[in-house]
Amino acid sequence: MELTQQQEVDRRRTFAIISHPDAGKTTITEQLLLFGGAIRNAGTVKGKKTGNFAKSDWMDIEKQRGISVTSSVMQFDFEDKRVNILDTPGHEDFSEDTYRTLMAVDSAVMVIDSAKGIEAQTKKLFQVCRMRGIPIFTFINKLDRDGREPLELLEELEEVLEIDSYPMNWPIGMGKGFEGLYDMYHNRVEIYRPDRYDGERLIPLTEDRQLSREHDISKLSIFDQVQDEVELLLEAGNEFSEEKIAKGELTPVFFGSALTNFGVETFLETFLQFAPKPEAHKKVDEERVDPYSDDFSGFIFKIQANMNPAHRDRIAFVRICSGSFTKGMDVTLSRTDKKIKLNNSTQFMADSRETVEKAVAGDIIGLYDTGNYQIGDTIYTGKDKIEYEELPHFTPELFMKVTAKNVMKQKSFYKGLNQLVQEGAIQLYKTYLTEDFIVGAVGQLQFEVFKHRMLNEYNTEIIMETMGSKIARWIDPEQLDEKMSSSRNILAKDRFDQPLFLFENQFAMRWFADKYPEVELKALL
Ligand code: G4P
Repeated sequence: MELTQQQEVDRRRTFAIISHPDAGKTTITEQLLLFGGAIRNAGTVKGKKTGNFAKSDWMDIEKQRGISVTSSVMQFDFEDKRVNILDTPGHEDFSEDTYRTLMAVDSAVMVIDSAKGIEAQTKKLFQVCRMRGIPIFTFINKLDRDGREPLELLEELEEVLEIDSYPMNWPIGMGKGFEGLYDMYHNRVEIYRPDRYDGERLIPLTEDRQLSREHDISKLSIFDQVQDEVELLLEAGNEFSEEKIAKGELTPVFFGSALTNFGVETFLETFLQFAPKPEAHKKVDEERVDPYSDDFSGFIFKIQANMNPAHRDRIAFVRICSGSFTKGMDVTLSRTDKKIKLNNSTQFMADSRETVEKAVAGDIIGLYDTGNYQIGDTIYTGKDKIEYEELPHFTPELFMKVTAKNVMKQKSFYKGLNQLVQEGAIQLYKTYLTEDFIVGAVGQLQFEVFKHRMLNEYNTEIIMETMGSKIARWIDPEQLDEKMSSSRNILAKDRFDQPLFLFENQFAMRWFADKYPEVELKALL
């Protein structure tokens, strides 16, 4: 039976997985795709070092489209849900797009390496999710290796990220002594190596949390110890609250081992139960748009340029917020009131063989773009104008001075610079007095894409001079005194002529704050 639009929206779960490089994001994503039947072999997504990975659906999609969309959005069905996982590129691909992707999801899964705890990139991405108030679910990975004490990890969550935690399960041992998970939420024990015991993987517990019968695992002293720990956690720990989870104030914590595919399925099932469906999205006028509305609307959160000079096309990624999308439909671009026919569109599938006819609120579509769109743009149908809230700007951390190599190319240099800045590919600053151009980014990749696009799309070779990492802080223009500029900071202005300082390091910033206590130093996000 065909589902109604409302039923379709209600079964969407759109989320991102956030983590520091190497925590296991790719491995866990792959397991989720396997459960969803979206890929057939492990190694399909990753394959980066193996060299002999299955020739994947991804690569075919890429070839067909002549553009790299690898794992940008992965869609699959699991039980009655339709899952959209949005990739948040890390490593050398970390960029403002990584942050912006978090504007397009309804919840986030935070993967933590049990030996390393909370690392820098996780913290940054977490803060963006926190700012949005979306639910955050935690998966503590690599239990098959020796890691930190589980209790210590929960304390770290609470102290470093300032979020309450609720363990849904608890590890029985770790590393070589890893025996399984004590699943408080489902009131059962999940055995890591059933072959070592009675062969059963899931052993139910009684209501008073005892093994329902004599089982090999009951002979382990570690099992008794875990039972005591769990009692203590349930008595002294935070209370489970769906309301707090929904507001992002409490994170349910799951332990597991993605590599050995242990605990991942339980995680997925439980996560999908609590992860929110698409909610009404806020417009600039603070009103919200009903996701079940007949009128289509969505916003652009990412523009991916093709790095192949033979194909200059770009893909604009749209998060649908209401209505449904059909190929060839006419939409209005809010910023310009221009009408656009959405002919050249694409949907992102984890499996190219499947074709989805309908995209609804919660889904992501990709539009081939010849320069119509900017990041943050709203498109809509219907007579009532819809304009979604502007996407936030993120404080850049890396800076480069930029000039045109050939002075005769100044005109195209300015044009390219302005357009790429407007599109949201990079941020632009000028030194306060001499007005030298400085570009700012949150990841190195942004500079490389910028340089490449200036050459390929604007025919301008540029010279970039590294300034390295800096701490950017904005100040009130009325408090500005040029004498505040010193050898340890650079006074600059942003593209709206607002003054800011680029500090060498934390020390230089503190020194400034001590010297000028009345000056408030503001970050973007
Ligand atoms: P990422 O996307 O977050 O960067 O992490 P990825 O999944 O690529 O995993 C990073 C490394 O950690 C991989 O090792 C992966 O196999 C390993 N890993 C992931 N989950 C687990 C787990 O549950 N247990 C153990 N023991 N290892 C896990 P690798 O392929 O050897 O690559 P690399 O470490 O050389 O990058």
